[in-house]
Amino acid sequence: MKTQHMNDLFSQDSERFSKFSIQLPSLLLDYSKNRITDKTIAHLIDLAKDCEVEQWREKMFNGEHINRTEDRAVLHVALRNRDKKPIMLDGKNITPDVEKALAKMHAFTEQVRQGKWLGYSGKRITDIVNIGVGGSNLGPQMVTEALKHYSDHSVQVHYVSNVDGTQIAEVLRPLNPERVLFIVSSKTFTTTETMTNAMTAVNWLTSSSFSKKSVAKHFVAVSANKENAMAFGIDEDNIFDMWDWVGGRFSLWSAIGLPIALDIGFEKFLEVLDGAHEIDEHFCQTPLEQNAPVILALLSVWNCTFLGAQSQAILPYDQHLHMLSAYMQQAEMESNGKSVTWDGEEIDYPTVPSIWGELGINGQHAFYQYLHQSNNVVPADFIGSVESVTPVQGHHETLMANFFAQTEALMSGVNEQQVRDDLAARGHPKSYIDKVAPHKVHKGNRPTNTLLMKRISPKSLGSLIALYEQKIFVQGIVLQICSFDQWGVELGKGLANEIVKELSTNTIKETHDSSTKGLLKYYCSSRAASDN
Ligand code: F6P
Repeated sequence: MKTQHMNDLFSQDSERFSKFSIQLPSLLLDYSKNRITDKTIAHLIDLAKDCEVEQWREKMFNGEHINRTEDRAVLHVALRNRDKKPIMLDGKNITPDVEKALAKMHAFTEQVRQGKWLGYSGKRITDIVNIGVGGSNLGPQMVTEALKHYSDHSVQVHYVSNVDGTQIAEVLRPLNPERVLFIVSSKTFTTTETMTNAMTAVNWLTSSSFSKKSVAKHFVAVSANKENAMAFGIDEDNIFDMWDWVGGRFSLWSAIGLPIALDIGFEKFLEVLDGAHEIDEHFCQTPLEQNAPVILALLSVWNCTFLGAQSQAILPYDQHLHMLSAYMQQAEMESNGKSVTWDGEEIDYPTVPSIWGELGINGQHAFYQYLHQSNNVVPADFIGSVESVTPVQGHHETLMANFFAQTEALMSGVNEQQVRDDLAARGHPKSYIDKVAPHKVHKGNRPTNTLLMKRISPKSLGSLIALYEQKIFVQGIVLQICSFDQWGVELGKGLANEIVKELSTNTIKETHDSSTKGLLKYYCSSRAASDN
């Protein structure tokens, strides 16, 4: 396949589009613009079977502890188990627990949205501030942004994730403490950034209410660590459960999704779950050859591990999906950015590409030069909608014309003879053509997937996200890595916790390397100078 050009594959087989596309209820997946033939797909399906993808899928849905290094189940699928079938975990059916948590979310969101939850001065809540980072921020914020069209603006939802004080200061500046409800979202309730922001929020509130008692009226928590949340000062009744069998990056379906439900209403939040459930059903019931998450995973393995692509772009052509690539970065790179197998064996093959992206139209005026003519091939997922939820006359057609044109151009390219013929037809002299032609050649043969939704909706978005979640799951199985832990974030966190002590006492350890030591000393001396 390394020498095959997709132009030839398309001219040899007029059925490529119908053969290599999958129609799901909420979206069409066209994967024909990949460097594949029937034979390639057959080999990749064999690889999936050799890796026992189906058996591992059963293990996940059956609550086995497939997160082996943390000895936990991986059951975010239970959060959107909309037909409420029993899901067993260690001999216990957890579906009733999930239903109870959803009922608590429902009651809470109605109370707040109907103005029945009152602040310390008896005023209704108008603003929600979600304090959380990583999976406790990206999922809810990406979904809130994506479904803005569906918000009735009963409350305004804001997000604080960065420990840089600028963010919380900017968010709180225009708000009235009497009318703000904080959601402290943290599975562990130990994350330094979140705890720091939450303490600042408490101080902001109490500097207005002059009473610690007001915390109970203005703070709720979402956590698997009820003890820490209560120790922080949050009423037990105001703590929403999440469980250790829900990974942070897969948690938006849980009470971590509270800001989503507050913004669009609980019924529409359930539609997000419905969309995800639809994909779970497809994933569990569809033969691998027609299984969208399986195909996407195998194509990513094909492009990265076999064809050598080192990154993959997520390019939404829908303004509402402007945070999708940020969400996908955590989902994929925190899951599969690893280099040892389940058994701890060193891996000597590339696992997953780095994930990056931007709104497609903005990208066309920023980095598409690279996509078309650099010598690094970047497979890309193009995501768009047939209908816009905000029809402004004459815009959507232009947007979608670019959407379709770019994947065609990336695939077909334009060769030197075509460039020369075009320049000659425009009347350019041979000297100019000789000079410019090599620079205008587009090699093409750059793989893309097209995911075309009917329109962005709570349900179609839920399906899109779940599609990527299950793709990431299959990738991990095929790559033989544990997709569910994240040991790689521990070292940096640990060193930061030590350095923050050195900075607060101005005592720099001699054990640091000379760069770190030099930087820390420079920082402390510069800070001292500016203090004087
Ligand atoms: O980045 C590490 C991580 O543990 C993520 O997996 C998680 O989503 C994030 O930090 C926040 O963790 P918590 O929800 O426990 O505050």
